[in-house]
Formats: sequence, structure tokens, C-alpha cells
Amino acid sequence: MKQTDGRERKAYLSLLYFAVILLPVFLLGCYLYNEKQLRVGQFQEFNTHNLQEHITPLQQSKEDKDKKTDLVPLEFCDVFTGKWVLDNVTHPLYKEDECEFLSEWVACTRNGRPDSKYQKWRWQPQDCSLPRFDSKLLLEKLRGKKLMFIGDSIHYNQWQSMVCMVQSVIPSGKKTLKHTAQMSIFNIEEYNATISFYWAPFLVESNADPPDKRDGKTDPVIIPNSISKHGENWKDADYLIFNTYIWWTRHSTIKVLKQESFNKGDSKEYNEIGIYIVYKQVLSTWTKWLEQNINPSQTSIFFSSMSPTHIRY
Ligand SMILES: *[C@@H]1O[C@H](CO)[C@@H](O)[C@H](O)[C@H]1NC(C)=O
Ligand SMILES: *[C@@H]1O[C@H](CO)[C@@H](O)[C@H](O)[C@H]1NC(C)=O
Repeated sequence: MKQTDGRERKAYLSLLYFAVILLPVFLLGCYLYNEKQLRVGQFQEFNTHNLQEHITPLQQSKEDKDKKTDLVPLEFCDVFTGKWVLDNVTHPLYKEDECEFLSEWVACTRNGRPDSKYQKWRWQPQDCSLPRFDSKLLLEKLRGKKLMFIGDSIHYNQWQSMVCMVQSVIPSGKKTLKHTAQMSIFNIEEYNATISFYWAPFLVESNADPPDKRDGKTDPVIIPNSISKHGENWKDADYLIFNTYIWWTRHSTIKVLKQESFNKGDSKEYNEIGIYIVYKQVLSTWTKWLEQNINPSQTSIFFSSMSPTHIRY
């Protein structure tokens, strides 16, 4: 994840604090639970073995416990370098059965998962320690603001985790969840804030955008240079957190529409092009759109790279 603007350090840290450290916890757990869940595909090298190298249970690394981690003041710390540690004192950050906003398909406990260790991983930067997650502080930072996750179903999970981490401090009746065709919007009335999710698994336009085409049963077809139809809906957010990952991992090529749109009547001819080439095109379309449409002094932008999947085989 990288921040691409020059917003003041404080806001940067506050967002980093939840975007980097807290969000992946839930999914990491699901990943650890199921060794076979990664799709066999282009990102095969990112396997359980690799992940394990970056994970050290707290109780197994005594020297780490003794080692002073607060070597660098938080504002100068590289929080991206570090490792996952087991922390059953400050974690889990929320209990599944206390979050009414968790959808059935990611409710691990309700679906019969017996263990709970996966809920207790905490990110430990190498040279500093992060403050404990504080829902009220986060909501204060979000007052009058819009935070938006944009991407695929893995990102949808992260959005749900975020909602669950903050919702308990909001009185009932003061929080609502609304779904539209492309968006899920969690509204926090008292704070005049929203935490929303926008479905765009390729960021650019694709045939997986409509609600009835998200099950992955149709081969994806995308238009790598068409993003503004989605982008129009992102413009007024204060924090944008993007991802595009899991739909790229199915085949080594992807279908690229020859026409400029999916409009009815247009023929649906496509070229099959290597995913690395198209992924690069898409990221280029995305960065160009950001440059032309987002003011970095008003909006913070993050990109979330690969993360554990939630699919069980
Ligand atoms: C946390 O983990 C340690 C080490 O496994 C264990 O001794 C302790 O009882 C656990 N505490 C809680 C609150 O689960
Ligand atoms: C609520 O927040 C929006 C920005 O998201 C702002 O335009 C509006 O003025 C705020 N309303 C109130 C009552 O503070």
C-alpha cells in the first residue's frame, strides 16, 4: 500500500493505522485456516510457505518481545516493514456475533469454524509500535467525511471488517447500511460520515460489474481504458482505498473487449491478452484518472495489493 499524496502527516498516520494494520486481520485468519484456498494461477509463488515466513507467533519469539520496538517515532516509522504477531490481549478487535453487519458468507464462526486464533494476528512494524485500535478516534477522524473501499470481493471483506470494528461504539438506530447496485454504504448519522464499498473488481469497466455477474461463472471481459463510469462515483470521497486482485488470477490471459462499451447491440468481440500486459494498462488508466480527477490535498489515496482470499475449496 502506498499513499500517493502530500496530505499532512497526521491524517496519513491515522489512515495507515487502520488501512494497513487492522484490515487484513480478518482475512489473514481465513487464509491461515485453509491452506489450500489460494487459487492456482499466476500468483502461485505467493503460497502458504512464503506467508509463514512473515508470521511469527508472539510467544515463539522471546527476543522480539525483549527487543525494543519503539526505535523510531511513529511519524517517521516505516510501518510497511514488519511482521504478524499473535496477540490475544488486544485482539480480536471485534466479535463476530456482536456485528450484525457481517454477511453470512464471511461469518466464519457461524459457518462452523471451530478455532479462533485467526482473529488474533496483529501487525508489528519492525521499528515502532502502533497505537491500539480505537473506534471512537477513528470515527472522530471521519467526522463529516467519506471513506470508500473500491475493488473486488476481498476488498468487500475488508470493508465489512472495518464496519464491524467501529459499529459497536455507535448506538443502535444511529447506524444504517444501504445497498445499491454498485455500492454498500454504512452511514454513521451522528458523525455525518460514511464507510462505503464500491464494486469494481477490475477498477475499469468489465462484464463482472452488474450485480448478477459477480459469481465468477462468466469469463471476465474488460475494457482496460474505461474507468470514468465508475470513477464518477469516487470523486467526492475523502479517503479512497483501491484494490484489484483476485479476478486476475484465474488464467494467464484475459479477454479485452474490442468495442468501447458493453452497450446492448454492440458486438462482443474481444482479444485475449496476457494478464500482466493488461494489468499494467489498467493501473495506468487508473493513475491517469486519479491525476485528472482527484485533488491530493483533499483526498488520500491508497492501493491495497494482494491479500489472502476468502474462498474455500
Ligand atoms: C494468551 O495466550 C497465552 C499463550 O498461549 C496463554 O497463556 C493465555 O492464557 C492467553 N490469554 C487469553 C486471554 O486467552
Ligand atoms: C456532512 O458531510 C458532508 C461531506 O461528506 C458535508 O458536505 C455536509 O455539509 C455535512 N453536513 C453536516 C450537517 O455537517
